[in-house]
Amino acid sequence: MQLTERDEMRADLVVVGAGVAGLTAAVTAAEAGLRVVVLHKGAAWQADRPEQSTATFYAQGGIAVVDPAAPDDSVDLHLADTIAAGAGLTDPTTSRPILADGPTAVSGLIGWGAEFDRTAAGDLARTREGGHSVRRIVHAGGDATGAAVQTTLSRRLHAAATTLPIECVDDSIAVGILRAAGQVSGVAFRTGDRDRVVHAPTVLLATGGSGHLYAATTNPSGATADGIALALHAGAVVADMEFIQFHPTMLHVDGARGRRTLISEAVRGEGGRLVDAAGRSITDGVHPRGDLAPRDVVANAIEARLAASGDPCVYLDIRGVPDFERRFPTVTAGVIAAGLDPSSGRIPVVPGAHYLCGGVLTDVDGRTAVPGLLAAGEVARTGLHGANRLASNSLLEGLVMGRRAAAVAAARRGRPIAEVDPDVHGVLAPMMDRRGLQDRMTRSVALRRDAEGLAGVAADLAHATVRPVRTVADAEDAALTLAARVVVAAADARAESRGCHTRTDHPQTDPIAHTRSFGLIDGEISVCAGSDVIADIQALVP
Ligand code: SIN
Repeated sequence: MQLTERDEMRADLVVVGAGVAGLTAAVTAAEAGLRVVVLHKGAAWQADRPEQSTATFYAQGGIAVVDPAAPDDSVDLHLADTIAAGAGLTDPTTSRPILADGPTAVSGLIGWGAEFDRTAAGDLARTREGGHSVRRIVHAGGDATGAAVQTTLSRRLHAAATTLPIECVDDSIAVGILRAAGQVSGVAFRTGDRDRVVHAPTVLLATGGSGHLYAATTNPSGATADGIALALHAGAVVADMEFIQFHPTMLHVDGARGRRTLISEAVRGEGGRLVDAAGRSITDGVHPRGDLAPRDVVANAIEARLAASGDPCVYLDIRGVPDFERRFPTVTAGVIAAGLDPSSGRIPVVPGAHYLCGGVLTDVDGRTAVPGLLAAGEVARTGLHGANRLASNSLLEGLVMGRRAAAVAAARRGRPIAEVDPDVHGVLAPMMDRRGLQDRMTRSVALRRDAEGLAGVAADLAHATVRPVRTVADAEDAALTLAARVVVAAADARAESRGCHTRTDHPQTDPIAHTRSFGLIDGEISVCAGSDVIADIQALVP
């Protein structure tokens, strides 16, 4: 590939993605003096754009963070709740420091201008969500926490860009991680039909999740597993990919596809009740915490009720939520936009694809198995979420890991790199038709799986058409197809039910929990030994 001078950029850190983890890392690094380039797949940031590009923007409930002054809460209790939700696969050695850094990370965001809801006494207001023992979730604008976080970070980025060496390249898709002598040396990316490259010793993947593996999801349209594919092609390892969290309450609209409105778990934290069409509780007798049990438990209880009744949805009874429309303006707007009336007191809901608990395997500082390649946020698997993420731990993880990634980038600054020319022309990749893939995944690899269904999807994936990657949609389809291959392989290998992975043909939970890791070797998905890989990262990567 012949690049003109204009097509080449140089940086100390390239951040791929512009949500909470990416922008926290980018701004922190720029303020520490690093040259930073952010590659953003979406259009230039505007707070009032009707469709936003990051999942961060759509987060509602809040940020789970311990109040260091609270007599009834502690990092140990937050860790215990996280471990209980994680169904045996949360790694306490990485989770504890991440949770412990929460208060500092949230204070940092407040220092950058974020305004959280406060009590009459001026303290941060805290709500409760599924799996939490106490009210520890801070929120903004009622249920518009993600929008407040995104707005704060995007404004900070654009303010920083006037005085610091930080540039956000919008409408750009990363197409390959460049490496030389076993180290990362940059990113090949495309803006429109222009092929470009940014040379850098450190690249942070902060591309978010993979919700568009499914026909309906709470994720924005760019959640197409891009970072998973980039990492695998670069030689990194992914883990816990079978654990795709279905949020119990996504707004149900008959036949709707694509991004759907989330109905925050905080609605149940404030008194909402899950009922069927006849008004009977969904979770009575299922779990001691009832509607506030961990997400996998509640989602499975809904799925079981739907299977038994044949109904298309259950309902969130919001009559017990004080001042609903003021407390939950985002949910109210979403319900009205779907042509429904929140004052009816019942919102139709179904479980919906929401969050990838696994991802690119990293250590507690965001380092992957490839020197210089970092991952943070939903794309990464730090060990915090295990087999089922605890509600509102994701914004927290993004904030904390973004800061940690910036520190790693600062330590790597100035490393000599060999600048390589990307070979991105004529790249071929297997791609399934997106709608067909989403339908197959929704039918056989959603909340409930079995060997026969998984084998059917694996066979379809094996016959995916190999085509040149020419457009953004091609790159996304190739990433979704590759991610689906790993999810299916991981779900097939896990012959037990655990967290958000339910095998109807293997309902038992094995006494010993294992993380499973996968890499891409000669184009094939191959099993790696997870804990050995983590040890290797820590031993090998400076
Ligand atoms: C919610 O508000 O229920 C979503 C929060 C999360 O996904 O952690």
